[in-house]
Amino acid sequence: MQSVVSPADAADAADAADAYGATYWVICYIGQEATKRCPVNSPSKSPEMVAKGSSPIADITVVGGAGHVGIPLVLAFAEAGMTVNVNDLNEATLATLRSGKLPFIEHGAAPLLAKALAENRLIFTSSPTQIRGSGPVVVTIGTPVDEFLNPVTAAVQRCMDDLLPYIADDQLIVLRSTVFPGTTDWLHTYLARLGRKNKIAFCPERVVQGYGIKELREMPQIVSGTSPEAIEEAVALFNRIAPEVVVVAPLEAELAKLFNNAYRYIEFAATNQFYMIAKSAGADYTAIMKAMKHNYPRARTLPGPGFAAGPCLFKDTMQLAAFARNQFNLGHAAMQVNEGLALQLIADLKRSYDLANMTVGLLGMAFKAEIDDTRASLSYKLKRTLQTCAKDVLTADPFVTTDPTIQPLDRVVEQSDLLILCTPHSAYRDADFAGKPVVDIWGFLKNANVVY
Ligand SMILES: NC(=O)c1ccc[n+]([C@@H]2O[C@H](COP(=O)([O-])OP(=O)(O)OC[C@H]3O[C@@H](n4cnc5c(N)ncnc54)[C@H](O)[C@@H]3O)[C@@H](O)[C@H]2O)c1
Repeated sequence: MQSVVSPADAADAADAADAYGATYWVICYIGQEATKRCPVNSPSKSPEMVAKGSSPIADITVVGGAGHVGIPLVLAFAEAGMTVNVNDLNEATLATLRSGKLPFIEHGAAPLLAKALAENRLIFTSSPTQIRGSGPVVVTIGTPVDEFLNPVTAAVQRCMDDLLPYIADDQLIVLRSTVFPGTTDWLHTYLARLGRKNKIAFCPERVVQGYGIKELREMPQIVSGTSPEAIEEAVALFNRIAPEVVVVAPLEAELAKLFNNAYRYIEFAATNQFYMIAKSAGADYTAIMKAMKHNYPRARTLPGPGFAAGPCLFKDTMQLAAFARNQFNLGHAAMQVNEGLALQLIADLKRSYDLANMTVGLLGMAFKAEIDDTRASLSYKLKRTLQTCAKDVLTADPFVTTDPTIQPLDRVVEQSDLLILCTPHSAYRDADFAGKPVVDIWGFLKNANVVY
């Protein structure tokens, strides 16, 4: 069943709908009416209660609150007037946040963090024992895939087992990370077996890394729950920070999240495969893309070629493949193309250059432009592979601070015989590479001696 309701009726609809197992949509808009009609936990404490020096009680807890998903979410809730318990096992990151600094690049987050700290809206805790109050508990701990590409679903159970003794029966639990399909319903059954009555919601995070603050303000939130009460509370919660909320059943929300990421991964694979076909035919893919897209709306969304990596796209595509009993041919093909691009590049370079007597400089070690996150970056796959065949491999990145082997750009340029643009950071676009040969599969560089 599917229905659409007006914003003003959204809360009532969430109330009335037979949420569990049914498919329906509720769209709410931030605004006085929606806020009035979607009440959940009482809004922010009065300024006196959260004044500096007092001990505020959290309106909401974000477990994993110091992570990449956690921080933008914490700051969005704080900006919406809530007092947030930032619960994270990583005490070093909590200390960084407490001191007013961000542990990684999150565009637009610094002023919100300063404001939230000044208003005493953040409580920092590093143990489940410090989860208090009656507000929702949002869990951002993800499901990794193991070395055989199977999802480690036990990670969610372990996390919940740690948290449960400190969560009251009336608290809403919101799964926010990407989970294996069926996890939300499993959690509902698991808690029921333990005699627990918690409301369970699954509201997947879909922001692009580094731009969570902007996207949380602009993008709809997918909300699902295992009971009408859970849905109602979760809808009201996300209406506080999002322009609209879309409600579906838990399995649909879990699949929607995985489909979003797998689709993106497949889009990158499509363009990367086209790039490799054009390259091996001796054709210029940049010129081909220009021709494909010029005043041709159906090709508008085709991305440019490049290294598609990071902690989510590969992992989520493989979770979906595992869920589909490994019958996800497009997903596996995307993985082969995207991961294979780096290896294909090196094979081609080996044919054209005497790599064994050359120093290769890698430009950009973050998994994508303008961020400092190296998790699952293909730059490191290139580095490891080149280390087996080149004389030496040097690396540069203007943002990454966690890799002590990274060197300044000018030194890498000076000491390298061949440069590879791994990440198209804007700082590289007009950089001076001293006429050295540069590999640029992105078609990104303006004034370089591009040889591949
Ligand atoms: N990074 C993104 O842009 C992004 C976007 C959408 C979805 N996701 C998904 O969100 C999930 C989290 O990803 P992330 O990038 O934020 O990871 P992350 O490693 O940056 O953050 C996870 C945080 O959880 C903390 N943590 C781990 N176990 C804990 C526990 N038991 N109790 C308290 N804290 C704990 C870690 O210290 C870390 O700070 C994953 O499922 C990921 O696929 C990530």
